[in-house]
Amino acid sequence: MLFSGRSNEPLAREIASHLKIPLGQIIVKDFADGETYVNLLETVRGKDVFLIQPTGFPANHNLMELLIMIDACRRSMAGRITAVIPYFGYSKQDRKAEKHEPITARLVANLLERAGADGCLVMDLHADQLQGFFDTRLDFLYASSVIVDYFAKKKLNNLVIVAPDIGASKRARSYAKRLQAGLAIIDKRRPKPNVAEVMHLIGDVKGKNCLIVDDEINTGGTIVNAANALKENGALDVFASCTHPVFAADCVERLEKSPIKEIVVTNTILLPKEKQSKKTTVLSVAKLFAEAIKAIHKEKSVSELLNPAK
Ligand code: R5P
Repeated sequence: MLFSGRSNEPLAREIASHLKIPLGQIIVKDFADGETYVNLLETVRGKDVFLIQPTGFPANHNLMELLIMIDACRRSMAGRITAVIPYFGYSKQDRKAEKHEPITARLVANLLERAGADGCLVMDLHADQLQGFFDTRLDFLYASSVIVDYFAKKKLNNLVIVAPDIGASKRARSYAKRLQAGLAIIDKRRPKPNVAEVMHLIGDVKGKNCLIVDDEINTGGTIVNAANALKENGALDVFASCTHPVFAADCVERLEKSPIKEIVVTNTILLPKEKQSKKTTVLSVAKLFAEAIKAIHKEKSVSELLNPAK
C-alpha cells in the first residue's frame, strides 16, 4: 500500500500511477495550534506499506509528519513500513564540523527507526557515507540516469562536466564518463554558512560548453559562483543540474540573473509557483521510485536493477 504525506503529493500520485495502484486514503492535517493529525482511512494490518514524504522545506514539519504517519501505521499493525524519502532533509548535517555540534542526519535516521520504520528508500544522499547512519534496511537511488539521458539527447558539443566543489567530483567524473565529456573541478570554500566562494578552477573550459552537476541547489551560491567562474574562464554555454531543487531564500532570483542557460532538476522536491522559473527544467524520478518500490515489495535486487552506475 502507498500513502503520501503533504510534502510532494504530485510525485506520490505519479509513483502510484506507474505502479497501477491507488494511493491509500489518509487524513493528514494541522490543528489550529500547529500540531499535525494523521488518520489512516483503510486497514494496513499485515500489509507492506510505503509512505512517500520528502523531508525538505519546512524540514521539521515534513519530518514530524512522516514520523507520525509511521507511528499510525505501526499502531495499526502494518506488516512492514518503508519510509520513501526522495529528499532526505538534514543530510548536510552529517558530521561535527565545529566542536559542540550535533550530527543531525544521524539523529533523523534514529528517529525514523524509533518511530517504527523497517526500511527507508532515499535518493542522492548528500554523501554516500550517510548510508551507515541507518540501522533500518536502506535502499538508495541515484537520479543520474534520468539527468544523463536528458543531456545525452541534447548532444552538446565540446562538453565539460564541472564539479562545483571537491565533494561533487566523484559524481562529475561519472557524468563525464557517461556523456563522453571532459572534467573540471572547482575548489570552493565556505567562509560562513550559506556563503560559497570559488578559490580555483582546475581544468580547461575555454570555448567549451559546461554542465555543472551537484546533489542539491540550496541558496544557489555554489552553482552561480561556479557559473560566473566558468564564464570568466571563457566557457561557452553553461548548464547546471541537480537532483534536489531546495531553492531556498532568493535562490530563484539569483539563478535568473546568472549566466546559466538552463537548470535541470528533478521532482524529488515539489517546486511551488514562486520557485519555478523559465530557466528550470524538471525531470521526473517517479518511474525510478516505482520500480524500486516494486523490487523491494517482491524482494528483488534494487541496486542491480536501478544503479548500474552512478
Ligand atoms: C554542498 O556540499 C552541496 O553539495 C551543495 O553544493 C550545496 O548544498 C549547495 O548550497 P548553495 O546552493 O546554498 O550554495
